[in-house]
Amino acid sequence: MIPFLQTLSLRARLILIYVFILGMGGLITSFIGSLIVNTTLMDQARSKVSHDLNIARMVYEKQLKLIQNSIYIGASGNTIQQTLYANDRNRLLTRLEQIRRDTNLDFISVTDKDGRVIFRITAPDRQGDDVSRIPIISAALNGKTAGGTEILTKAILQNEDEQLAEQALIKIIDTPKAKPTNKTEETSGMVLMAAAPIFGEDGKLLGVLYGGHLLNRNFMIVDRVWDLVYKGEKYHDQDIGTVTIFLDDLRISTNVKTKKGERAIGTRISSEVADAVLTKGVRWTSRAFVVNDWYISEYEPIQNFNGKTIGILYVGLLEKAYTSIRNKVIFTFMIVATLGFFIIVGISYLITRSITKPLSEMVSVTQSIATGDLDRRIVVKSKDEIGQLALSFNKMVASLRKMRAELENWANTLEQKVKERTEELAAMQNTLVQSQRLASLGKMAAGIAHEINNPLGGILVLSSLVLEDLKEEDPHRENLQEVIKQTMRCRDIVKGLLQFSRQEEGKTEYVKVNTMLNSTLSLIEKQALFHNIEIIKNFESNLPDVLGDGSQLQQVFMNIILNAVQAMKEIGVLTINTCHDPKNDMVVIEIADTGTGIPDEIIDRIFDPFFTTKEVGEGTGLGLSIAYGIITKHRGRMTVKSKVGQGSVFTIKIPAVEILKEI
Ligand SMILES: Nc1ncnc2c1ncn2[C@@H]1O[C@H](COP(=O)(O)OP(=O)(O)O)[C@@H](O)[C@H]1O
Ligand SMILES: [Mg+2]
Repeated sequence: MIPFLQTLSLRARLILIYVFILGMGGLITSFIGSLIVNTTLMDQARSKVSHDLNIARMVYEKQLKLIQNSIYIGASGNTIQQTLYANDRNRLLTRLEQIRRDTNLDFISVTDKDGRVIFRITAPDRQGDDVSRIPIISAALNGKTAGGTEILTKAILQNEDEQLAEQALIKIIDTPKAKPTNKTEETSGMVLMAAAPIFGEDGKLLGVLYGGHLLNRNFMIVDRVWDLVYKGEKYHDQDIGTVTIFLDDLRISTNVKTKKGERAIGTRISSEVADAVLTKGVRWTSRAFVVNDWYISEYEPIQNFNGKTIGILYVGLLEKAYTSIRNKVIFTFMIVATLGFFIIVGISYLITRSITKPLSEMVSVTQSIATGDLDRRIVVKSKDEIGQLALSFNKMVASLRKMRAELENWANTLEQKVKERTEELAAMQNTLVQSQRLASLGKMAAGIAHEINNPLGGILVLSSLVLEDLKEEDPHRENLQEVIKQTMRCRDIVKGLLQFSRQEEGKTEYVKVNTMLNSTLSLIEKQALFHNIEIIKNFESNLPDVLGDGSQLQQVFMNIILNAVQAMKEIGVLTINTCHDPKNDMVVIEIADTGTGIPDEIIDRIFDPFFTTKEVGEGTGLGLSIAYGIITKHRGRMTVKSKVGQGSVFTIKIPAVEILKEI
């Protein structure tokens, strides 16, 4: 492919190829068509010319035959014989006049047996001249009727008729392309003549009757041919056909016209034709420039009685008439071809558009897609390969779009997930730190509790025994009772410490969190503490169970609820929510209050054992730390969120068990 084609658009290329193929086809057909039209028309013209020349020859020969016949009849009839015997010149004249009229002869004469003229119609007094050297007459003198074309000199013509010599005289007009000549005029005349012997009663030759028809300036033959062949045929007021008789190379009788409209007598034939026809004596066909115009011409030699070429018979067809027909045909052909070309170019334009339009649309859509617009689609109209391509292209864009959406979504959730995991990680870190701290604290507490527990037991037993021994009215009795009370308090604390530090495995059972919360509340809500507390419960009905120790969990809930009520100073709203977190499969319990809230400085320490903000005797600081320990043992987590002056939310999450699975 030519490199520059590749820089063009597909459509331009297709159209170019169409145009190229059509143009080439059109050019070749036009060329061949014109060639065929040209050769056919010109062949036709040439064969017509040839045919016309045959007709011209026939007319010429017929005229000659006519002359010959009437001379023969005249010579062989009795009248001339008798008048010669009787020397009745008047009767002879009448008879000869009759023959001349019938045959339209220019001259008619009688010779004696030696060829001397004894009577001539045109000049009865001029006689005695010898015409025996004229070949036709000499043939007649030998007893044969003869006829043909002859050239008669001015002298012979003058003898026959002065006027004939004048008619024969033709001034030679200088003609381009003709053979150079010194002659300025032609005095001889070309004649169609015939001669017949006149025999006496004894069969002996009395003389010869001869007559002729001068062709110089006589247009009878040429006009008859013209009449016969071309009558009426004209091209722009110009005769289409022309006929000419040449004496040697000179036009002596013609209907070719000069520019002035006169007959072109006196002009000469081109040397080329003269060489072919006059010298070689052959028929010649060509395109020839005659006087003013080009003619399709055919020439034929005219021979005299002895067979010598003495002139030419010519027929020509005006070439313009044929070329104009040819041009018209070719022109129409070209117009039709051009119209067809444009129609087909138009159609190919439409066809290529139907092909390239979806393609260029596809290109534009691809470009938009490249810039990130995945909402565009190609409008599919056709069901062909391009339609299918567009369809699968649309599908591709759709799945691309879906994939991108998924990718974007994934990126978003990834961010969220990272955030969540980070938070979880931080929470776990906290829990870990907390647990470690609590674990070491627990060990220490356990040790202390153990050491204190025995002496406390001793104190309690001994002081109780002493109290029993004391009388009712003993003044020490009250003090001892106080000792026992405080000791019991100590024992409670130590018990709590031991509970916190024991870290022992509790029971393992299915615990229904909602039920557990309700029973916890019913245990404590009757207390005076709760009189001004509004309790709101949002429990999820299908909450899964958790696996663990119910009484331990109850203790957790109790500690948190009591803290909350204490923080609200016995007036406020306590909200308890439960729900299932399907993502982590956890049961979530939220216990919120509208209490004082926890300042940021201490929020990290509230789970520590013995951390309390309450008055001595009111709080031990063990409640949350025990709760924390229990939840951790249940593989759960406990967190707190709080705002000073607004309240606190304690959130407990414990792994759920799918009961259905167990069944
Ligand atoms: N709901 C609450 N609102 C405000 N502060 C609370 C709440 N729960 C616990 N706290 C704080 O945490 C401390 C520790 O609580 P806890 O371990 O139960 O011990 P105690 O209740 O004996 O003080 C409390 O003294 C209190 O300052
Ligand atoms: Mg408490």
